[in-house]
Amino acid sequence: MKVIPAMSSFRVSENVARMQSSATMAAMQAAEALRAAGANVCDFGAGEPDFDTPDNIKQAADSAMRAGRTKYTNAGGIREINRAIIDFYRREFGTEYQPNQVMATAGGKQAIFNAVVTLLNPGDECLIPKPYWVTFPEIAVFAGAKPVFIETEETGFVLTVDQVERAITPRTRLLILNSPSNPSGRVLPPAEFRRIMELTTERGIYVVSDECYLRFVYPPAEVFSAASLPAELRSRLCIAGSFSKTYAMTGWRMGYALAPADWTRAMLKVQGHSTSNANSIAQWAAVEALTGPQESVGTMLAEYTARRAWLLNALKEIPGMKCSEPEGAFYAFPDVRGCLNENLTTSGDFAKRLLEEEQTVVTDGAGFGAEGFVRISYATSMEQIQEGIKRIARFAEKYS
Ligand SMILES: Cc1ncc(COP(=O)(O)O)c(C=O)c1O
Repeated sequence: MKVIPAMSSFRVSENVARMQSSATMAAMQAAEALRAAGANVCDFGAGEPDFDTPDNIKQAADSAMRAGRTKYTNAGGIREINRAIIDFYRREFGTEYQPNQVMATAGGKQAIFNAVVTLLNPGDECLIPKPYWVTFPEIAVFAGAKPVFIETEETGFVLTVDQVERAITPRTRLLILNSPSNPSGRVLPPAEFRRIMELTTERGIYVVSDECYLRFVYPPAEVFSAASLPAELRSRLCIAGSFSKTYAMTGWRMGYALAPADWTRAMLKVQGHSTSNANSIAQWAAVEALTGPQESVGTMLAEYTARRAWLLNALKEIPGMKCSEPEGAFYAFPDVRGCLNENLTTSGDFAKRLLEEEQTVVTDGAGFGAEGFVRISYATSMEQIQEGIKRIARFAEKYS
């Protein structure tokens, strides 16, 4: 029989067709293209630490590989990583999670994905405070649900319980929280966090708390995990955690989920039929990250603290820019609307022209649901920050 090849009939599924590509990835690619063309680029686009993974963690990976720990593991991870995560939350937050409430994942992103797709049905509403990490609405859309955004500009991008309450409808099923926040760097005060959890518990709404930047908080703000809330406020809570930022391990793809046992069981089913276990060698490296010396975390935090202080002061001097003080993560999120005019009408224009005219990368806030703002990552050297700010100031002066 002669087979006549059909015209390409690939048609992307409806849910995936509705998803947007990542704005942060686009910024990275634009910078890469300029760099490849030989430009001296100042890059404030990075969503990852500029530090190398600490040596003790690399050595643990090396030993694991040499000991032949290179096989499949349980879908939810080796006992040692689950134990290390449980012990960390007991030590730091006084909470006793059980082994059937924890799983290792390929990055915090997979934990969020697992949590969202095991919960949402078509027609469900998923509350997402603005500005949001670009991936949150896309995962809800992938699940066929409807992202419902909560405006928070009036409170400086710090979510309040009243804002959540106003957004709830009979279809609300999930709220995604992210404190410290990417992109704003703002931290939800613990008392407000608790009030929000009281409201969602009372209304039977589930919560995913993305604690990927958990440890990067600057005094007087304090590290806070939803894990420290009383058990009755955690009955519908999934914590998504990550090794990526805390231990400079973005490429290793290690994260975890902590959730009630029935939710965890569902997440294991999804992961078991998709990626299976997180990389076995990375799991052993992550055990070392949590149980080994923690000095590297302090060293990185001290460096971010110094950069943040310098950057926030410098931003105050730039005409047209306003920046509320970010208490965590490694981002500043200035309002650039004061720099816009008939030649430069959006924050997207601002980011694009800054790249073209000053070879400096910032990420347009529109991708995070906050047109008029740009994200500046200070996960780059002080030298780069100082040079980049000089360029941004020159650019802002030209257009203001
Ligand atoms: C807010 C937020 N959550 C989750 C992640 C995912 O991190 P990973 O999958 O590398 O653990 C990121 C990464 O940029 C992030 O910014």
